[in-house]
Amino acid sequence: MDLSVTRTATPIVPPPAETRRASAVRLEDVIKVYRESDMETIALRGVDLDVPAGEFVAVMGRSGSGKSTLLNLVAAVDRPTAGRVLLDGIDIARAGDEVRQRLRRGTVGIVFQSQNLVPSLDLVENVCLAAALGGRPLTRAGARDLLGQVDVADRGGHRPDHLSGGEQQRAALACVLAARPRILLADEITGELDTANGALVLHLVREIHRSAGLTVLLVTHDPVVADRADRIVELRDGRIVGDRRSG
Ligand SMILES: Nc1ncnc2c1ncn2[C@@H]1O[C@H](COP(=O)(O)OP(=O)(O)OP(=O)(O)O)[C@@H](O)[C@H]1O
Ligand SMILES: [Mg+2]
Repeated sequence: MDLSVTRTATPIVPPPAETRRASAVRLEDVIKVYRESDMETIALRGVDLDVPAGEFVAVMGRSGSGKSTLLNLVAAVDRPTAGRVLLDGIDIARAGDEVRQRLRRGTVGIVFQSQNLVPSLDLVENVCLAAALGGRPLTRAGARDLLGQVDVADRGGHRPDHLSGGEQQRAALACVLAARPRILLADEITGELDTANGALVLHLVREIHRSAGLTVLLVTHDPVVADRADRIVELRDGRIVGDRRSG
């Protein structure tokens, strides 16, 4: 039963009934208010979103529209002020710490534009650590293989501060993929698609989405990147104002 309430300017085209899959990610009337001393910022103003397992969604919207806030809530990094965020049907705000931790480590992987590599470890060690934390231990050879897929195989013995920004970003993606998440959350990781790095990152994410059925929520400002997704969701001032199939 689909209980989602959509508040979109353009109507959602639902997938045919026979292909409809269970929700991987679901937001129900989500409100997020940031409070700092006497300042209040309403970042999300009642967001409803239903992402079936295996769907690739691009999240667009101008700066400050609430994209990163939405991703942080789905990643269980933060809690909504009101409403519910469900991962695989589990309300993550109300789940116990153990369940939240399991979801954070085993189910969702998040890649931010600022990388989350451990500075004192080389890349192979970073990938091995991320894999182990995700409960999917990997050999050094396996880690090297993964680094090869993001085109930094020859940098495996280097620490992150010896790498370029693009290399660090791809290595961070390798770390997230090492834990084999079922849901990938990515915040502006493709950068400029006309750079080799942006294109490679998008290609890799799409490949894993296709081959392993990875659910993807990818924040981007680039319409060319968004067009490669199954669906484009547009945020404006904390509300979903567009939700359409791409292509
Ligand atoms: N920790 C915070 N404390 C207070 N306000 C915040 C916080 N994080 C975000 N905001 C505010 O919430 C709103 C939404 O921010 P968010 O980071 O989600 O935007 P965004 O769509 O990701 O923007 P960008 O494209 O610039 O990354 C903005 O007005 C922002 O200033
Ligand atoms: Mg952001």
